Amino acid sequence: MTAAPTTPALPTTRPAGCPFDPPEDYATRRETAPTSKVRCPAGMDAHLVTRYADVRAVLADRTMSSRGASSVHVNPDADLDEEVSPGSIIQLDGPAHSRLRKKVMAEFTVRRVEALRGYVQELVESHLDAMLAKPGRADLVADFALPIPSLVICELLGVPYADRSRFQTQSTTLVSTDATREEKQRAYDELSGYLAELFTEKQGNPQDDLFSRLISAGAGDPLTMEELVVLGLSLLVAGHETTANMIALSTLVLLEHQGAQDAVLAAPDRAVEELLRYLSVVQFGVLRYATADVRVGTQDVRAGEWLVAALNSANRDEAAFPGADELDFGRESPRTHVAFGFGAHQCIGQQLARVELQEALTRLFRRVPGLRLAVPREALVYKHNTLVYGVRELPVAWG
Ligand code: HEM
Repeated sequence: MTAAPTTPALPTTRPAGCPFDPPEDYATRRETAPTSKVRCPAGMDAHLVTRYADVRAVLADRTMSSRGASSVHVNPDADLDEEVSPGSIIQLDGPAHSRLRKKVMAEFTVRRVEALRGYVQELVESHLDAMLAKPGRADLVADFALPIPSLVICELLGVPYADRSRFQTQSTTLVSTDATREEKQRAYDELSGYLAELFTEKQGNPQDDLFSRLISAGAGDPLTMEELVVLGLSLLVAGHETTANMIALSTLVLLEHQGAQDAVLAAPDRAVEELLRYLSVVQFGVLRYATADVRVGTQDVRAGEWLVAALNSANRDEAAFPGADELDFGRESPRTHVAFGFGAHQCIGQQLARVELQEALTRLFRRVPGLRLAVPREALVYKHNTLVYGVRELPVAWG
């Protein structure tokens, strides 16, 4: 008797010696089984969608629900039936999502984000000053990549300067791969309590920041305190780890690719898009739940089934990006990647992330042209199991 075939696991193992490439299994799947079932770490089966065109179609389909957020499938302790909190923008669907998204989008326009560029530049320069004051060696993750996005979010939330160091410590615990569940829960509770107090104060005394404007612009349809707090935490979670890992991993790529630093200095906007595509740090894709029967490519998906839109596979699809496995700063349409997702939930913070990456990378390599790895490349440890891919520490040296 032959055993019933078991569903293969969601591919997670990257090719040995090639930390920037997604698991090899994706390339095979795009050819032979572009949408087929896998077993996720959370225990459920999901259709793994690997082709660029199919990933975009799934993410553009309004019958797909985001109730599982982007990440539940990779959490072995996930509660798949957990109720969605109001304010959890990434999990909301339909009108509830559009209402919240419209309010937040007004704060992330190109004009508003460009107004933050000067602040980002100051942050980058002051962190470089502090790093270069060290005797020739530093951890680029702890000293540069992690604090900058967290302080930018402090600015968005209007966290007073005196509280920023405490806020940063808690927010680093929240995204840390080393913190225990209890430590993360404690950090979450403390941050929620802190934000509730902060936003209550802003109700009476609005300042020039995103949340003061969200509070006072809500006439007729105000956001509740619960919505505001969950939204604040959502921005923190969505914008901190992603951007921090992109800064550190991009630095590593630029240290390893001949001529890449010059390309970044010559055309930072173009180079950052290609780094986003090439690295696709949201490494396990984003989760959707089918609320209606639908066909994805040649595969039938039934209402009630889960799908994983594999962003890193889509971004390496030769049909969309010729020479997809190469880092190529000369691509014709550098912005067509799906590193920020696609459709109704496409990243709200993408313009801000671009500004942070452009400023961090150009200022780093301009000020420290002799930057190099301080350890052999083989000694680096990567984040293979976390939702956002990255390098745990990046010891660098100069001089
Ligand atoms: C390189 C950095 C970043 C990457 C790679 C990234 C990636 C993504 C992706 C893939 C999604 C779509 C999730 C889905 O479809 O389920 C998303 C959504 C989101 N991102 Fe980002 N993100 C980055 C930076 C930021 C920043 C800086 C912020 C804000 C401070 C931010 C805030 C959000 C929010 C609020 C959503 C949910 C939007 C919605 O559901 O309507 N992200 N991001």
